[in-house]
Amino acid sequence: MSDGYSNSKKTDDICEDVCGQGPRAVLSMSRLRCILRGFHLNVLLLLFVFVPAGIMVLYLHGQKISYFLRPLWESPPKPFHEIPHYYHENVSMETLCRLHGWGIRESPRRVFDAVLFSNEVDILTIRWQEMSPHVTQFVLLESNSTFTGLPKPLVFAGNREKFGFAKSRLTYGVIGGRFKKGENPFVEEAYQRVALDQLLRISGIEDDDLLIMSDVDEIPSAHTIDLLRWCDDIPQILHLQLRNYLYSFEFYLDNKSWRASIHRYQRGKTRYAHFRQSDVLLSDAGWHCSFCFRHISEFLFKMKAYSHYDRVRFPHYLNPDRIQDVICKGADLFDMLPEEYTFKEIIGKMGPIPHSFSAVHLPAYLLNNAPQFKYLLPGNCVRESGG
Ligand SMILES: *[C@@H]1O[C@H](CO)[C@@H](O)[C@H](O)[C@H]1NC(C)=O
Ligand SMILES: *[C@@H]1O[C@H](CO)[C@@H](O)[C@H](O)[C@H]1NC(C)=O
Ligand SMILES: *[C@@H]1O[C@H](CO)[C@@H](O)[C@H](O)[C@H]1NC(C)=O
Repeated sequence: MSDGYSNSKKTDDICEDVCGQGPRAVLSMSRLRCILRGFHLNVLLLLFVFVPAGIMVLYLHGQKISYFLRPLWESPPKPFHEIPHYYHENVSMETLCRLHGWGIRESPRRVFDAVLFSNEVDILTIRWQEMSPHVTQFVLLESNSTFTGLPKPLVFAGNREKFGFAKSRLTYGVIGGRFKKGENPFVEEAYQRVALDQLLRISGIEDDDLLIMSDVDEIPSAHTIDLLRWCDDIPQILHLQLRNYLYSFEFYLDNKSWRASIHRYQRGKTRYAHFRQSDVLLSDAGWHCSFCFRHISEFLFKMKAYSHYDRVRFPHYLNPDRIQDVICKGADLFDMLPEEYTFKEIIGKMGPIPHSFSAVHLPAYLLNNAPQFKYLLPGNCVRESGG
């Protein structure tokens, strides 16, 4: 023991004792025992408890961990140039245009609202009613396939009678799905957007007409459209900043929705898209109500039809009781972390969205028909069964 190891830890001492002196056969046996004893608490615990537990945590929360670490591997996109938005019902259009640095036209531009429709009948009603006074032509395309390649009924065709107010101004198209198994859903989505370009040409759109490119649930406010159709010199492509809501107007998330855009149509150049196409963003231009469905069955449909179907990692995510519970809490359907670019924002947004009791500045048709759309208003999170 006077071999210079006397400073080592107690377990090492014991091992040195046994392992250093016994006969050869005993030596290997005891060495094994020594190794096991030496590693006993540390390594064995690590191997048989922490490693499996770690794998389990990764399996259950891997996506969360990678989202949480997102600020490390992804930097935020270039910020938009956000332009101020002036509006008051009692301010004349001429003054409003001038406040934005634009002139006023002698007559308004024609306005085309083009959407790919899935199954959002209520939200489409609120959207079209909101914009109706200023829209020249409603263009709607629906497919018998979801983006994820599941067959779907032609929901708009089955509900046409609800849209009588738009009938005389509607260009409606149907496209057959390609039903490619295992394909990236973004391919089917892109395919449908190209078809929408063709439908737009059929609808009679011309140069300098305004074209609204947005999902059905991204609703520009009527006064925003009115401003842009009346003012001269507006940007060729303008993104719209919308207020983000989840499940209903009870859960206001943030004002960071930017994908909706308004274009001054250019023949041969304008292509229907849902990604970033310019750097200019008009502030406070409407509402984006995600997963704002009346029936739990529609949540289930959307969760499966969604382009991010990989987020349904466990079958219990599709349990209707869980979905109802998540809606009333303002929590996340996929148990994900907020998609943000800084730790501060991720942490600030973790957990459920606080309830909002404001129903000020919501689409007029929604308030005028509140009994019909009760589930979209604060205090009515419980969904009807069936559907
Ligand atoms: C708008 O103008 C009308 C007529 O001048 C006035 O009666 C009304 O109170 C004004 N509304 C607001 C919100 O200022
Ligand atoms: C989808 O529509 C296309 C074209 O109308 C049709 O040929 C096809 O049979 C339909 N598929 C399903 C699954 O409904
Ligand atoms: C958007 O949200 C931020 C942060 O809550 C706030 O400071 C800003 O005023 C909001 N902008 C609009 C147009 O509501």
